[in-house]
Amino acid sequence: MTKQATSHIEKVEGNYNLSNYETIRENFDWEDAKELLSAAKTGKVNAAYETIDRHVDEGYGDKIAIHYINETEKRSYTFREVKDKTDHYAKILKENGVKKGDRVFIFLSKTPECYIAILAAIKVGAIAGPLFEAFMEDAVRDRINDCDGTLLITDQELAKRVPQQDIPSLQTILYVEDIEKEALQPVDGDQFVEWVDWEDGLIIHYTSGSTGKPKGVLHAHRAVQHHIVTGKWVLDIKDEDVYWCTSHPGWVTGSVYGLFAPLLNRATVVIQGGRFSAENWYSLIEELGVTIWYSAPTAFRMLLSQGDLYKKYDLSSVRHVLSVGEPLNPEVIQWAWNSLKVRIHDTWWMTETGGHLIVNLPAEKIKPGSMGRPFPGVQVGILDDEGQELPRGEVGQLAVRTPWPGLMKEIWGNQDKFKSYFQYEGWYISGDLALQDEEGYVFFQGRNDDMINSAGERIGPFEVESKLIEHPAVEEAGVIGKPDELRGELVKAFITLRQGFSQSKELLEEIRVFVRKNLSAHAAPREIEVVDELPKTKISGKILRRQLKALEIERANANKVNI
Ligand code: PRX
Repeated sequence: MTKQATSHIEKVEGNYNLSNYETIRENFDWEDAKELLSAAKTGKVNAAYETIDRHVDEGYGDKIAIHYINETEKRSYTFREVKDKTDHYAKILKENGVKKGDRVFIFLSKTPECYIAILAAIKVGAIAGPLFEAFMEDAVRDRINDCDGTLLITDQELAKRVPQQDIPSLQTILYVEDIEKEALQPVDGDQFVEWVDWEDGLIIHYTSGSTGKPKGVLHAHRAVQHHIVTGKWVLDIKDEDVYWCTSHPGWVTGSVYGLFAPLLNRATVVIQGGRFSAENWYSLIEELGVTIWYSAPTAFRMLLSQGDLYKKYDLSSVRHVLSVGEPLNPEVIQWAWNSLKVRIHDTWWMTETGGHLIVNLPAEKIKPGSMGRPFPGVQVGILDDEGQELPRGEVGQLAVRTPWPGLMKEIWGNQDKFKSYFQYEGWYISGDLALQDEEGYVFFQGRNDDMINSAGERIGPFEVESKLIEHPAVEEAGVIGKPDELRGELVKAFITLRQGFSQSKELLEEIRVFVRKNLSAHAAPREIEVVDELPKTKISGKILRRQLKALEIERANANKVNI
């Protein structure tokens, strides 16, 4: 290994004003996380209060909580202003009959109003259901229907994708345009705060598996213990930090590490509206002086592909960078070190885990290719097919000792699915395959099922297949993740055509657009291949996705040899 390559993987302390990481590894106790919250003193909890109002009560009302920036505007809000606005939204929710435990959905693009609406729902004791802004009709309908959402906060534009007539539980739709028009009357204190128990529902995120429709992963208020403590140690948030997480709060990264963890730690959070462009991203960092940046490998690879563009910007404010969602390849770590002079710290966790479990703590040694080591208080096991722990160095099922504060409370209305994560006594089974080395570093080896990970977004093949066969030309469909240099995987569909249809470029495009328009852009197949027959199991006739995937991998390898 070259000298330059070793320098960034060794312990680096220069960039961090850190206290002692070795001692937290030795002395860590999840119970201590509670002490970071005001609930420890008052005995009453509400995650929205802890995230915003507490800081006002503690004298930080004038500190900037949110910077919002898009192509045409820039605005900022102090913690007091965010408190006032969440109170305003909370008041309107109450006037509309929202009660503790109700499911309140939020379908908004990445704007301050989206974050405020989520917090307001939580403030009044409801369970917030944030939806990704690119979802189309079916995706919106399935999620709200699954947990009988009663109220939706959206805007006039996105409301066009809400088929209210097909969502019987949905009594009320509130438009932010109307909420924003009503006069805001600041109130003192916690008038709208519903004090709840640690076990009461906080937020529900829908996520894909390899079978069936997306499942509702419900988290409880106790998860904020996990958020605050990992925000402190993994994100390394200090009072002066300007923190930017690039994910939308409809995904768990965007809610836990875009909203809760940084604001619980009183950071100033950046919300960026609009589409990805390398120029916009770099100039945002320069303009707002971003110090901590949490994103995903595909985004870093897109920046890498822009070559020297970074040289046009002053990015020296950035002191800590993190990644999540998909394998972080060593080339990307090397690029960040050479260009931005920072190390990228990978983190591993899942919607179901509610917070970081495997991390690279700042300043500690990084092993490129590894996701890091278990967070203090977390015990990882690599299990064989009988649930027995394998020796270090062997590949098996990545499992984690239960419980921990962020662990999901339930899968909405699906006890069997919930139980399937805990089939071996005392373990949570992630569905990932991994190995752990002698020093505890964990290396991702792929999924144990057919789930697709494209650009860090989790896509269930079943959902895409179901949509494909709704198209009149499609007889059967098998959907897989095809290896892709930029996105990690891209969604590829193999289909057979119904009688009377013949393959043409136009037809395939029509099918692709059909999925895009009804389900969502990120799940629409980028490639569709027509075949005469799909491989199936002999007995049950189930489509053998693994065989399709093996075919793609074989083709990719053959191409490499040809080059
Ligand atoms: O396969 C793992 C992959 O993303 C899955 C979880 O997806 P989701 O619930 O959408 O949550 C994403 C962000 C919290 C995991 O089962 N994954 C997550 N982090 C990594 C990863 N794969 C490789 N390296 C990671 N750091």
